[in-house]
Amino acid sequence: MSHKDISIKSKLDSIEERLRGQGDQHLDFLAHKEQITRILELVERKNVLVLGHNYMAPLVYSISGEKERGDSLALSRRAAETRKPIILFDGVRFMAETAKILSPEKKVLIADVEAGCSLADPFTADDIRAYRARYPGSPVVTYINSYADVKAESDYCCTSANAIAVVKHAARESGARRVIFFPDSLMARNIQNELRRDGYDLEVVYPGRDDDLFGRCEVHEKFTAEHIRDIRRQFDMPKGASNAAVLVHWECPPEVVAEADYCGSTSDMARYITRRPGLVRVYLATECEMAANLASEFPQVEFVRTCGFFCQHMRRITLDKILRSLEDEVHEVDVPEAIRVKARRAIDRMLGVD
Ligand code: 13P
Ligand code: SF4
Repeated sequence: MSHKDISIKSKLDSIEERLRGQGDQHLDFLAHKEQITRILELVERKNVLVLGHNYMAPLVYSISGEKERGDSLALSRRAAETRKPIILFDGVRFMAETAKILSPEKKVLIADVEAGCSLADPFTADDIRAYRARYPGSPVVTYINSYADVKAESDYCCTSANAIAVVKHAARESGARRVIFFPDSLMARNIQNELRRDGYDLEVVYPGRDDDLFGRCEVHEKFTAEHIRDIRRQFDMPKGASNAAVLVHWECPPEVVAEADYCGSTSDMARYITRRPGLVRVYLATECEMAANLASEFPQVEFVRTCGFFCQHMRRITLDKILRSLEDEVHEVDVPEAIRVKARRAIDRMLGVD
């Protein structure tokens, strides 16, 4: 066997190991083993970095190595540091675009260019310019769930893993008492609440606060406080329990965040579980594939799976489409250079904060 064959075999074995004991996921692996082998061969032959967001379906997720899976922040960092000539981004388009902004000399592929995001899709650079005109002197912090032209008009980018730190930093650097946060209206309200709790006299303005714009994640907006309380009652998960936890994403409504044991980015949730070995039951108020993926990593934890909240955009990324994209090197993501340079500045400023 050649060196490459050994490497593919060992990757296949480790995927199978990861999915063994996960019932349907293991069966799914066996049914798709040939296709996955073909994908791994192409990844090896073409020297591709395959980044996988935490919301990918388990089989797609398992194609990425341990250090190539994660939240938006972790994957941006990986994209920025890779020496591989091709990046395949298993996630939505704004994520692949961010990889291109950070690694312009690389070929960045996405399996389906239609993989959008309800937060990113409605907003343009004009919205940011209008807010700047309305609130002169206020720095603009833009959530990574946005396209390059919007990032290019912003002072800072941020992700759910560092949004509060970046907003505080932007206010400190500019000396302003007000920060414009785009485009997630619910996350902005959560940030405003956290700042108040921390004693910060800082105003956050965002779409929907003083106008009829509204930026929302179509998945996370569906969670309600009543739903969380039901889960706690039905599954015996009282707030503050040492053996159970409800973990909530910052994109959820503030009433849902108020019901959480912990709030964070998708990878923050995984780290929270790692830090608490006494946990035996966890509910994740986020996209449902995340629980399926974490179940492989934390076999000792029961993930309450009453969830029916899937992201239609993330689900566009399938093995079939990945194979085609790798075979023909199609669905390349590109960003005009003038926009890329400006967007990069906002991302670099974020990466400089933490
Ligand atoms: P994370 O950066 O926390 O993974 O979130 C990305 C996202 O799209 C959440 O809906
Ligand atoms: Fe966008 Fe929500 Fe899907 Fe994340 S889960 S990609 S925020 S629509």
